[in-house]
Amino acid sequence: MTSLAKAECLLPQESSQTEDLTVTIQTPTGAFEFPCQEGETFLHAGLRAGVSLPYECATGTCGTCRGRLMTGEVDIGWEASPALAKLKREKGDILLCQTKAKSDCLVRVPAKTVTQTSAEAVPAKTRGVICNSRKLTRDVVEFQLKLSAPMTFEAGQFALLTSPSVVGARAYSMVNHSIDKTDSIVFVVKRKHGGGFCDWLFSDTVDGTEVDVFGPLGRATFDTSEKKNLIIVAGGSGIAGMMAILERATRSNYFSKYAGHVFFGVPTLKDGFYLDELAKFVAKAQGGLNVTLALSNEQPSQASHPNYEGIKLANGFVHTAMGASMAGRYDNAMAYLAGPPPMIDAALRVLITDGQLSPQAIRYDKFG
Ligand SMILES: Cc1cc2nc3c(=O)[nH]c(=O)nc-3n(C[C@H](O)[C@H](O)[C@H](O)COP(=O)(O)OP(=O)(O)OC[C@H]3O[C@@H](n4cnc5c(N)ncnc54)[C@H](O)[C@@H]3O)c2cc1C
Ligand code: FES
Repeated sequence: MTSLAKAECLLPQESSQTEDLTVTIQTPTGAFEFPCQEGETFLHAGLRAGVSLPYECATGTCGTCRGRLMTGEVDIGWEASPALAKLKREKGDILLCQTKAKSDCLVRVPAKTVTQTSAEAVPAKTRGVICNSRKLTRDVVEFQLKLSAPMTFEAGQFALLTSPSVVGARAYSMVNHSIDKTDSIVFVVKRKHGGGFCDWLFSDTVDGTEVDVFGPLGRATFDTSEKKNLIIVAGGSGIAGMMAILERATRSNYFSKYAGHVFFGVPTLKDGFYLDELAKFVAKAQGGLNVTLALSNEQPSQASHPNYEGIKLANGFVHTAMGASMAGRYDNAMAYLAGPPPMIDAALRVLITDGQLSPQAIRYDKFG
Protein backbone atom coordinates (compact mmCIF):
# COMPACT_ATOMS: atom_id res chain seq x y z
CA MET A 1 0.00 0.00 0.00
CA THR A 2 1.65 3.26 -1.08
CA SER A 3 -0.82 5.90 0.08
CA LEU A 4 -4.19 6.23 1.75
CA ALA A 5 -6.19 9.04 0.21
CA LYS A 6 -9.25 10.30 2.11
CA ALA A 7 -11.85 11.74 -0.19
CA GLU A 8 -14.87 12.65 1.96
CA CYS A 9 -14.64 16.35 1.04
CA LEU A 10 -16.27 15.83 -2.36
CA LEU A 11 -19.58 14.46 -1.12
CA PRO A 12 -22.63 16.06 -2.74
CA GLN A 13 -24.23 18.77 -0.66
CA GLU A 14 -27.79 17.58 -0.99
CA SER A 15 -27.02 14.20 0.62
CA SER A 16 -28.54 14.05 4.09
CA GLN A 17 -28.13 10.31 4.75
CA THR A 18 -25.61 9.05 7.28
CA GLU A 19 -22.29 7.73 5.95
CA ASP A 20 -21.88 4.88 8.38
CA LEU A 21 -19.75 2.38 6.41
CA THR A 22 -16.18 2.72 5.19
CA VAL A 23 -14.86 1.15 2.00
CA THR A 24 -11.14 0.84 1.33
CA ILE A 25 -10.00 0.10 -2.20
CA GLN A 26 -6.46 -1.19 -2.76
CA THR A 27 -5.13 -0.54 -6.26
CA PRO A 28 -1.71 -0.63 -7.98
CA THR A 29 -1.63 3.17 -7.58
CA GLY A 30 -2.42 3.24 -3.86
CA ALA A 31 -5.29 2.78 -1.45
CA PHE A 32 -8.38 4.94 -1.23
CA GLU A 33 -10.84 5.12 1.61
CA PHE A 34 -14.32 6.59 1.29
CA PRO A 35 -17.67 6.51 3.08
CA CYS A 36 -20.46 4.36 1.65
CA GLN A 37 -24.13 4.52 2.46
CA GLU A 38 -25.94 1.29 3.13
CA GLY A 39 -27.57 0.13 -0.12
CA GLU A 40 -25.14 2.14 -2.26
CA THR A 41 -22.81 0.41 -4.72
CA PHE A 42 -19.03 0.63 -4.28
CA LEU A 43 -18.80 2.34 -7.67
CA HIS A 44 -21.26 5.11 -6.83
CA ALA A 45 -19.75 5.73 -3.39
CA GLY A 46 -16.21 5.87 -4.80
CA LEU A 47 -17.01 8.06 -7.78
CA ARG A 48 -19.01 10.59 -5.81
CA ALA A 49 -16.12 10.77 -3.34
CA GLY A 50 -13.84 11.72 -6.24
CA VAL A 51 -12.06 8.35 -6.63
CA SER A 52 -11.93 7.50 -10.34
CA LEU A 53 -12.75 3.79 -10.04
CA PRO A 54 -12.73 1.76 -13.29
CA TYR A 55 -16.04 1.36 -15.13
CA GLU A 56 -17.52 1.37 -18.61
CA CYS A 57 -21.23 0.42 -18.70
CA ALA A 58 -21.84 1.00 -14.95
CA THR A 59 -24.75 -1.46 -15.28
CA GLY A 60 -23.30 -4.96 -14.86
CA THR A 61 -22.58 -6.04 -18.43
CA CYS A 62 -18.95 -5.25 -19.33
CA GLY A 63 -16.85 -6.44 -16.34
CA THR A 64 -14.50 -3.39 -16.38
CA CYS A 65 -15.26 -2.66 -12.71
CA ARG A 66 -13.99 -6.03 -11.45
CA GLY A 67 -12.62 -6.17 -7.90
CA ARG A 68 -11.93 -8.81 -5.24
CA LEU A 69 -13.50 -8.59 -1.79
CA MET A 70 -10.78 -9.16 0.83
CA THR A 71 -12.76 -8.46 4.01
CA GLY A 72 -16.32 -7.41 4.79
CA GLU A 73 -19.88 -8.43 4.08
CA VAL A 74 -21.66 -7.45 0.88
CA ASP A 75 -24.84 -7.77 -1.14
CA ILE A 76 -23.65 -8.96 -4.57
CA GLY A 77 -26.52 -7.15 -6.33
CA TRP A 78 -27.74 -8.38 -9.73
CA GLU A 79 -27.21 -12.16 -9.52
CA ALA A 80 -27.93 -12.68 -13.25
CA SER A 81 -25.43 -10.05 -14.40
CA PRO A 82 -23.59 -11.32 -17.53
CA ALA A 83 -20.33 -9.79 -16.28
CA LEU A 84 -20.63 -11.48 -12.87
CA ALA A 85 -21.02 -14.87 -14.58
CA LYS A 86 -17.47 -14.52 -15.97
CA LEU A 87 -15.84 -13.78 -12.58
CA LYS A 88 -14.22 -16.12 -10.04
CA ARG A 89 -16.91 -15.70 -7.44
CA GLU A 90 -15.42 -18.42 -5.21
CA LYS A 91 -12.31 -16.20 -4.85
CA GLY A 92 -14.38 -13.16 -3.86
CA ASP A 93 -14.56 -11.45 -7.26
CA ILE A 94 -17.27 -8.81 -7.45
CA LEU A 95 -18.50 -6.00 -9.69
CA LEU A 96 -18.05 -2.57 -8.14
CA CYS A 97 -21.08 -1.28 -10.07
CA GLN A 98 -23.44 -3.87 -8.57
CA THR A 99 -22.08 -4.73 -5.12
CA LYS A 100 -23.33 -2.97 -2.00
CA ALA A 101 -21.55 -2.92 1.35
CA LYS A 102 -23.25 -4.38 4.40
CA SER A 103 -20.24 -3.68 6.65
CA ASP A 104 -16.89 -1.90 6.35
CA CYS A 105 -15.10 -3.52 3.39
CA LEU A 106 -11.64 -3.92 1.89
CA VAL A 107 -11.59 -4.53 -1.88
CA ARG A 108 -8.64 -5.10 -4.23
CA VAL A 109 -8.99 -3.58 -7.69
CA PRO A 110 -6.45 -4.51 -10.42
CA ALA A 111 -6.99 -1.33 -12.45
CA LYS A 112 -4.95 1.83 -11.79
CA THR A 113 -7.01 4.34 -9.86
CA VAL A 114 -6.45 7.96 -8.91
CA THR A 115 -8.23 10.64 -6.96
CA GLN A 116 -10.02 12.87 -9.40
CA THR A 117 -8.27 16.22 -9.57
CA SER A 118 -9.42 17.64 -12.90
CA ALA A 119 -12.31 20.03 -13.44
CA GLU A 120 -14.37 17.03 -14.59
CA ALA A 121 -17.70 16.99 -12.74
CA VAL A 122 -17.86 14.50 -9.86
CA PRO A 123 -20.96 12.31 -10.22
CA ALA A 124 -23.68 12.74 -7.64
CA LYS A 125 -27.03 11.28 -6.71
CA THR A 126 -30.12 13.31 -7.40
CA ARG A 127 -33.76 12.87 -8.38
CA GLY A 128 -35.51 13.83 -11.60
CA VAL A 129 -39.12 14.12 -12.77
CA ILE A 130 -39.88 12.86 -16.28
CA CYS A 131 -41.68 15.40 -18.47
CA ASN A 132 -42.36 16.25 -22.13
CA SER A 133 -42.03 12.65 -23.30
CA ARG A 134 -42.81 12.25 -27.00
CA LYS A 135 -42.42 9.57 -29.61
CA LEU A 136 -39.91 10.40 -32.34
CA THR A 137 -40.57 7.20 -34.32
CA ARG A 138 -42.60 4.03 -33.76
CA ASP A 139 -40.00 2.75 -31.27
CA VAL A 140 -38.00 5.78 -30.15
CA VAL A 141 -39.07 8.10 -27.36
CA GLU A 142 -37.51 11.34 -26.18
CA PHE A 143 -38.08 12.74 -22.70
CA GLN A 144 -36.81 15.46 -20.42
CA LEU A 145 -35.77 15.10 -16.80
CA LYS A 146 -36.22 18.02 -14.41
CA LEU A 147 -33.56 17.53 -11.76
CA SER A 148 -33.94 18.34 -8.09
CA ALA A 149 -30.25 19.36 -7.95
CA PRO A 150 -28.63 20.96 -11.03
CA MET A 151 -25.78 19.16 -12.76
CA THR A 152 -22.99 19.99 -15.21
CA PHE A 153 -22.03 17.44 -17.84
CA GLU A 154 -19.89 17.23 -20.94
CA ALA A 155 -20.98 16.39 -24.47
CA GLY A 156 -21.02 12.59 -24.76
CA GLN A 157 -21.70 11.70 -21.11
CA PHE A 158 -24.42 9.49 -19.68
CA ALA A 159 -26.39 9.08 -16.46
CA LEU A 160 -27.95 6.16 -14.62
CA LEU A 161 -31.71 6.25 -14.13
CA THR A 162 -33.60 4.03 -11.71
CA SER A 163 -37.35 3.82 -12.06
CA PRO A 164 -39.49 3.01 -9.02
CA SER A 165 -41.11 0.25 -11.10
CA VAL A 166 -37.98 -1.47 -12.50
CA VAL A 167 -35.18 -3.33 -10.65
CA GLY A 168 -31.68 -1.99 -11.34
CA ALA A 169 -30.28 1.17 -12.91
CA ARG A 170 -30.16 1.82 -16.68
CA ALA A 171 -27.61 3.98 -18.52
CA TYR A 172 -28.80 6.70 -20.93
CA SER A 173 -26.71 9.25 -22.81
CA MET A 174 -27.56 12.91 -22.59
CA VAL A 175 -28.77 14.49 -25.84
CA ASN A 176 -27.89 17.92 -24.46
CA HIS A 177 -24.83 19.08 -22.54
CA SER A 178 -24.10 21.90 -20.18
CA ILE A 179 -20.87 23.25 -18.78
CA ASP A 180 -23.00 25.48 -16.53
CA LYS A 181 -25.27 23.84 -13.98
CA THR A 182 -28.61 22.87 -15.47
CA ASP A 183 -31.69 21.21 -14.03
CA SER A 184 -32.78 19.85 -17.42
CA ILE A 185 -31.49 16.75 -19.21
CA VAL A 186 -32.86 15.28 -22.43
CA PHE A 187 -32.68 11.57 -23.23
CA VAL A 188 -33.72 9.45 -26.18
CA VAL A 189 -34.50 5.75 -25.80
CA LYS A 190 -34.99 3.08 -28.44
CA ARG A 191 -37.48 0.46 -27.38
CA LYS A 192 -36.17 -2.98 -26.52
CA HIS A 193 -39.23 -5.22 -26.52
CA GLY A 194 -39.44 -7.19 -23.30
CA GLY A 195 -36.87 -4.87 -21.67
CA GLY A 196 -37.76 -3.83 -18.13
CA PHE A 197 -37.11 -0.10 -18.43
CA CYS A 198 -38.35 0.17 -22.03
CA ASP A 199 -41.64 -1.60 -21.40
CA TRP A 200 -42.22 0.78 -18.49
CA LEU A 201 -41.11 3.90 -20.42
CA PHE A 202 -43.30 3.14 -23.43
CA SER A 203 -46.38 2.62 -21.25
CA ASP A 204 -47.48 6.27 -21.81
CA THR A 205 -47.87 6.96 -18.10
CA VAL A 206 -44.37 8.04 -17.21
CA ASP A 207 -44.68 11.85 -17.35
CA GLY A 208 -44.62 13.14 -13.78
CA THR A 209 -42.83 10.04 -12.43
CA GLU A 210 -39.76 10.57 -10.26
CA VAL A 211 -36.62 8.55 -10.96
CA ASP A 212 -33.30 8.29 -9.15
CA VAL A 213 -30.42 9.78 -11.13
CA PHE A 214 -26.68 9.18 -10.79
CA GLY A 215 -24.28 11.07 -12.98
CA PRO A 216 -22.64 12.43 -14.96
CA LEU A 217 -20.66 9.38 -16.09
CA GLY A 218 -18.66 8.35 -19.13
CA ARG A 219 -15.36 9.24 -20.74
CA ALA A 220 -16.40 9.20 -24.41
CA THR A 221 -16.55 12.97 -24.29
CA PHE A 222 -15.75 15.69 -26.78
CA ASP A 223 -13.85 18.86 -26.15
CA THR A 224 -13.29 21.60 -28.70
CA SER A 225 -9.54 21.49 -28.03
CA GLU A 226 -9.26 18.03 -29.71
CA LYS A 227 -7.93 19.43 -33.04
CA LYS A 228 -9.04 16.24 -34.85
CA ASN A 229 -11.37 15.37 -37.68
CA LEU A 230 -14.42 13.65 -36.19
CA ILE A 231 -15.81 10.30 -37.32
CA ILE A 232 -19.14 9.70 -35.61
CA VAL A 233 -20.85 6.32 -35.90
CA ALA A 234 -24.22 5.86 -34.20
CA GLY A 235 -26.67 2.97 -34.26
CA GLY A 236 -30.28 3.95 -33.44
CA SER A 237 -30.45 5.77 -30.11
CA GLY A 238 -26.63 5.86 -30.17
CA ILE A 239 -27.18 9.24 -31.84
CA ALA A 240 -28.15 10.65 -28.38
CA GLY A 241 -24.67 11.61 -27.14
CA MET A 242 -23.60 12.46 -30.69
CA MET A 243 -26.23 15.22 -30.82
CA ALA A 244 -24.53 16.79 -27.80
CA ILE A 245 -21.10 16.45 -29.47
CA LEU A 246 -22.38 17.95 -32.72
CA GLU A 247 -24.08 20.83 -30.92
CA ARG A 248 -20.89 21.58 -28.96
CA ALA A 249 -18.76 21.42 -32.12
CA THR A 250 -21.19 23.54 -34.14
CA ARG A 251 -21.47 26.20 -31.44
CA SER A 252 -17.68 26.63 -31.39
CA ASN A 253 -17.41 26.65 -35.18
CA TYR A 254 -15.24 23.50 -34.96
CA PHE A 255 -16.12 22.32 -38.47
CA SER A 256 -14.57 25.42 -40.05
CA LYS A 257 -11.16 23.89 -39.18
CA TYR A 258 -11.78 20.15 -38.85
CA ALA A 259 -14.00 17.83 -40.85
CA GLY A 260 -16.93 15.94 -39.36
CA HIS A 261 -18.31 12.68 -40.79
CA VAL A 262 -21.50 11.34 -39.21
CA PHE A 263 -22.86 7.86 -39.98
CA PHE A 264 -26.26 7.19 -38.44
CA GLY A 265 -27.66 3.68 -38.78
CA VAL A 266 -31.40 2.90 -38.72
CA PRO A 267 -33.40 0.09 -40.39
CA THR A 268 -35.49 2.18 -42.83
CA LEU A 269 -36.03 5.80 -43.88
CA LYS A 270 -38.99 6.19 -41.56
CA ASP A 271 -36.87 5.13 -38.56
CA GLY A 272 -34.66 8.22 -38.88
CA PHE A 273 -35.07 10.94 -36.25
CA TYR A 274 -33.34 14.20 -35.26
CA LEU A 275 -33.04 14.79 -39.02
CA ASP A 276 -34.12 18.45 -38.75
CA GLU A 277 -31.37 19.03 -36.22
CA LEU A 278 -28.76 17.08 -38.21
CA ALA A 279 -29.63 18.97 -41.41
CA LYS A 280 -29.18 22.27 -39.53
CA PHE A 281 -25.75 21.17 -38.28
CA VAL A 282 -24.78 20.34 -41.88
CA ALA A 283 -25.99 23.72 -43.16
CA LYS A 284 -24.18 25.65 -40.40
CA ALA A 285 -20.91 23.80 -41.06
CA GLN A 286 -20.83 25.09 -44.67
CA GLY A 287 -19.17 22.01 -46.12
CA GLY A 288 -17.23 20.98 -42.99
CA LEU A 289 -19.72 18.31 -41.92
CA ASN A 290 -21.43 15.51 -43.78
CA VAL A 291 -24.14 13.21 -42.48
CA THR A 292 -25.03 9.80 -43.93
CA LEU A 293 -28.14 7.91 -42.90
CA ALA A 294 -27.38 4.20 -43.42
CA LEU A 295 -30.49 2.07 -43.98
CA SER A 296 -29.90 -1.58 -43.08
CA ASN A 297 -33.32 -2.85 -44.29
CA GLU A 298 -34.10 -0.60 -47.21
CA GLN A 299 -32.53 0.28 -50.52
CA PRO A 300 -32.72 4.08 -50.85
CA SER A 301 -34.16 5.26 -54.15
CA GLN A 302 -31.96 8.35 -54.28
CA ALA A 303 -28.58 9.57 -53.02
CA SER A 304 -29.92 12.01 -50.45
CA HIS A 305 -32.92 12.14 -48.13
CA PRO A 306 -36.11 13.22 -49.96
CA ASN A 307 -36.85 15.88 -47.30
CA TYR A 308 -33.30 16.82 -46.30
CA GLU A 309 -30.96 17.44 -49.19
CA GLY A 310 -27.95 17.74 -46.84
CA ILE A 311 -28.38 14.21 -45.50
CA LYS A 312 -26.92 11.47 -47.69
CA LEU A 313 -28.44 8.00 -47.86
CA ALA A 314 -26.66 4.65 -48.01
CA ASN A 315 -27.78 1.05 -47.97
CA GLY A 316 -26.36 -1.46 -45.48
CA PHE A 317 -25.00 -1.56 -41.97
CA VAL A 318 -23.66 1.68 -40.58
CA HIS A 319 -20.09 0.38 -40.10
CA THR A 320 -20.02 -0.72 -43.76
CA ALA A 321 -21.24 2.71 -44.91
CA MET A 322 -18.57 4.32 -42.73
CA GLY A 323 -15.81 2.05 -44.07
CA ALA A 324 -16.78 2.69 -47.70
CA SER A 325 -16.97 6.45 -47.25
CA MET A 326 -13.85 6.90 -45.11
CA ALA A 327 -11.42 4.70 -47.09
CA GLY A 328 -8.16 6.64 -47.45
CA ARG A 329 -9.46 9.57 -45.36
CA TYR A 330 -8.65 8.55 -41.77
CA ASP A 331 -5.85 11.10 -41.23
CA ASN A 332 -5.84 12.92 -37.89
CA ALA A 333 -9.18 11.37 -36.92
CA MET A 334 -10.93 10.88 -33.60
CA ALA A 335 -13.83 8.42 -33.70
CA TYR A 336 -16.91 8.40 -31.48
CA LEU A 337 -19.12 5.30 -31.51
CA ALA A 338 -22.36 4.52 -29.70
CA GLY A 339 -25.02 1.88 -30.14
CA PRO A 340 -25.61 -1.87 -29.85
CA PRO A 341 -22.51 -3.99 -29.01
CA PRO A 342 -22.34 -5.84 -32.39
CA MET A 343 -22.37 -2.51 -34.21
CA ILE A 344 -19.59 -1.14 -31.99
CA ASP A 345 -17.46 -4.27 -32.47
CA ALA A 346 -17.91 -4.13 -36.25
CA ALA A 347 -17.09 -0.41 -36.40
CA LEU A 348 -14.01 -0.93 -34.19
CA ARG A 349 -12.74 -3.57 -36.61
CA VAL A 350 -13.07 -1.18 -39.56
CA LEU A 351 -11.45 1.74 -37.72
CA ILE A 352 -8.51 -0.33 -36.43
CA THR A 353 -7.93 -2.52 -39.50
CA ASP A 354 -8.71 -0.18 -42.39
CA GLY A 355 -8.24 3.16 -40.66
CA GLN A 356 -5.22 2.15 -38.51
CA LEU A 357 -6.67 4.25 -35.69
CA SER A 358 -5.04 3.75 -32.28
CA PRO A 359 -7.23 2.89 -29.27
CA GLN A 360 -6.61 6.43 -27.97
CA ALA A 361 -8.30 7.80 -31.08
CA ILE A 362 -11.53 5.86 -30.52
CA ARG A 363 -14.11 6.58 -27.81
CA TYR A 364 -17.21 4.47 -27.53
CA ASP A 365 -20.26 3.55 -25.45
CA LYS A 366 -21.59 0.03 -25.94
CA PHE A 367 -25.31 0.05 -25.25
CA GLY A 368 -25.48 -3.36 -23.62
C1 LIG B 1 -23.12 3.77 -21.44
C2 LIG B 1 -24.50 3.40 -21.97
C3 LIG B 1 -25.28 4.39 -22.54
C4 LIG B 1 -26.55 4.07 -23.05
N1 LIG B 1 -27.29 5.05 -23.64
C5 LIG B 1 -28.49 4.73 -24.18
C6 LIG B 1 -29.27 5.73 -24.83
O1 LIG B 1 -28.92 6.93 -24.87
N2 LIG B 1 -30.45 5.34 -25.39
C7 LIG B 1 -30.89 4.04 -25.35
O2 LIG B 1 -31.96 3.74 -25.90
N3 LIG B 1 -30.16 3.08 -24.72
C8 LIG B 1 -29.00 3.40 -24.12
N4 LIG B 1 -28.29 2.43 -23.47
C9 LIG B 1 -28.91 1.09 -23.28
C10 LIG B 1 -29.83 1.14 -22.02
O3 LIG B 1 -29.03 1.34 -20.87
C11 LIG B 1 -30.64 -0.14 -21.79
O4 LIG B 1 -29.79 -1.26 -21.81
C12 LIG B 1 -31.76 -0.32 -22.81
O5 LIG B 1 -32.63 0.80 -22.81
C13 LIG B 1 -32.59 -1.58 -22.48
O6 LIG B 1 -33.06 -1.47 -21.16
P1 LIG B 1 -34.29 -2.37 -20.66
O7 LIG B 1 -34.42 -2.20 -19.20
O8 LIG B 1 -35.49 -2.08 -21.45
O9 LIG B 1 -33.81 -3.84 -21.01
P2 LIG B 1 -33.38 -5.01 -19.98
O10 LIG B 1 -32.96 -6.15 -20.84
O11 LIG B 1 -34.44 -5.24 -18.97
O12 LIG B 1 -32.12 -4.42 -19.22
C14 LIG B 1 -31.01 -3.91 -19.92
C15 LIG B 1 -29.88 -3.64 -18.99
O13 LIG B 1 -30.29 -3.20 -17.71
C16 LIG B 1 -29.48 -3.75 -16.67
N5 LIG B 1 -30.31 -4.64 -15.82
C17 LIG B 1 -31.30 -5.48 -16.22
N6 LIG B 1 -31.84 -6.12 -15.15
C18 LIG B 1 -31.15 -5.71 -14.07
C19 LIG B 1 -31.23 -6.01 -12.66
N7 LIG B 1 -32.13 -6.86 -12.16
N8 LIG B 1 -30.38 -5.38 -11.82
C20 LIG B 1 -29.46 -4.50 -12.30
N9 LIG B 1 -29.35 -4.18 -13.61
C21 LIG B 1 -30.18 -4.78 -14.48
C22 LIG B 1 -28.40 -4.48 -17.39
O14 LIG B 1 -27.33 -3.63 -17.65
C23 LIG B 1 -29.06 -4.89 -18.68
O15 LIG B 1 -28.15 -5.17 -19.69
C24 LIG B 1 -27.03 2.73 -22.96
C25 LIG B 1 -26.24 1.75 -22.35
C26 LIG B 1 -24.99 2.08 -21.87
C27 LIG B 1 -24.16 1.00 -21.21
S1 FES C 1 -18.85 -1.17 -15.20
FE1 FES C 1 -19.51 -2.77 -13.91
S2 FES C 1 -19.91 -4.34 -15.32
FE2 FES C 1 -19.54 -2.63 -16.63
